[in-house]
Amino acid sequence: MKKRIAVLPGDGIGKEVARGAVEILQAVGERFGHQFDFSYGKIGGTAIDEYGTPLTDETIQLCKESDAVLLGAVGGPKWDKAPAHVRPEKGLLKLRKDLNLYANLRPTSYYESLADSSPLRKEVIQDVDMLIVRELTGGLYFGKPSERVQDNGQDAVVDTLYYQKAEMYRVIKLAFELAQGRKKRVTSIDKANVLESSRMWREIAEEVSKDFPDVTLDHMLVDNAAMQMVKNPKRFDVVVTENMFGDILSDEASVLTGSLGMLPSASISEKGPYLFEPIHGSAPDIAGKNMANPLAMILSAAMMLRVSFGMEEEAAEVERAVNQVLDAGFRTGDIASFGQTHSSTTEMIDEVKAVLLENEAIM
Ligand code: NAD
Ligand code: IPM
Ligand code: MN
Repeated sequence: MKKRIAVLPGDGIGKEVARGAVEILQAVGERFGHQFDFSYGKIGGTAIDEYGTPLTDETIQLCKESDAVLLGAVGGPKWDKAPAHVRPEKGLLKLRKDLNLYANLRPTSYYESLADSSPLRKEVIQDVDMLIVRELTGGLYFGKPSERVQDNGQDAVVDTLYYQKAEMYRVIKLAFELAQGRKKRVTSIDKANVLESSRMWREIAEEVSKDFPDVTLDHMLVDNAAMQMVKNPKRFDVVVTENMFGDILSDEASVLTGSLGMLPSASISEKGPYLFEPIHGSAPDIAGKNMANPLAMILSAAMMLRVSFGMEEEAAEVERAVNQVLDAGFRTGDIASFGQTHSSTTEMIDEVKAVLLENEAIM
């Protein structure tokens, strides 16, 4: 099969891990006889430095003409003081909006070999298998106005939490559909004791659930959910929530796997192309040091193979190679236990690639 993939490495460790995903996909192409054509675009601070804007029309066009988009991460201290419209993060938000990527799927699963890497006890995290479905193109991230204002002579600020019913409906419905292929449980997370938007969200969840009699729905307030996620994460199957809550809870959920550097994501729309990116950021504290964990990015590439290209076996083989590399004891610093040797980003990528290709030989 021939596929066009737009690669937007972005900033900081985004560049380091994106290179890894491309190498792994090249190995997949070699092993399974696919042709992946990669086209590169700039996004975030790297694009600001070159074009004065975090996302150009040409890059959006490149993404729209591709079969899928792979993105590293954006942001960094260099651009933190820039005005709102030229922040790196604005480029990512614009891309999500322009591609209409309304749902962001963030799976969290248990890795036996990383049980000691999580600060949580093994019996708490063992067999966790949770899918966070995060609304991605609405809520506080996109509401207008979002600005500094003067209010009766006082410096003040306003951000707007705005949703149309249809925007809530489509992502909640998707969560139910995904639950049908899993343990058939949806937990809808909101702040319905305070926010009107959450009360509407809850009503819609109830409405959608009537069409899915085989799926159980429960509701949870977001503060309690944040606590339950580390106290009893096994109770969750599919979690569906609005944009900001999903952002925060998924970073928390990543700790169940052992590290933020392990969590991939797929952002999907009604018709594609879809975007695949790790949930982590550009990690300025370790950028440029060849220390970043490339597995979240590599696992995002595996999600791309499965979700965008229907390449189930190829995706499973990448995931198997990742597991074998972890089982063999290779660890970047974020997932290393006390006393374990640290592998670099490039060593980790090379190992996954080698195992992926070796597995062909022994099949
Ligand atoms: P971050 O996710 O970049 O890093 C948080 C912590 O996790 C850091 O200590 C970092 O070293 C560590 N970490 C993250 N990914 C890792 C990996 N793959 N391997 C090992 N360790 C890893 O969050 P932050 O520091 O709050 O934000 C830094 C910048 O990244 C900000 O500009 C922010 O806006 C941006 N950001 C971008 C994205 C994205 O592009 N999708 C996501 C989150 C944050
Ligand atoms: C993420 C990031 C982004 C978000 C930022 C960089 C805009 O934190 O992808 O989780 O909040 O969505
Ligand atoms: Mn985030």
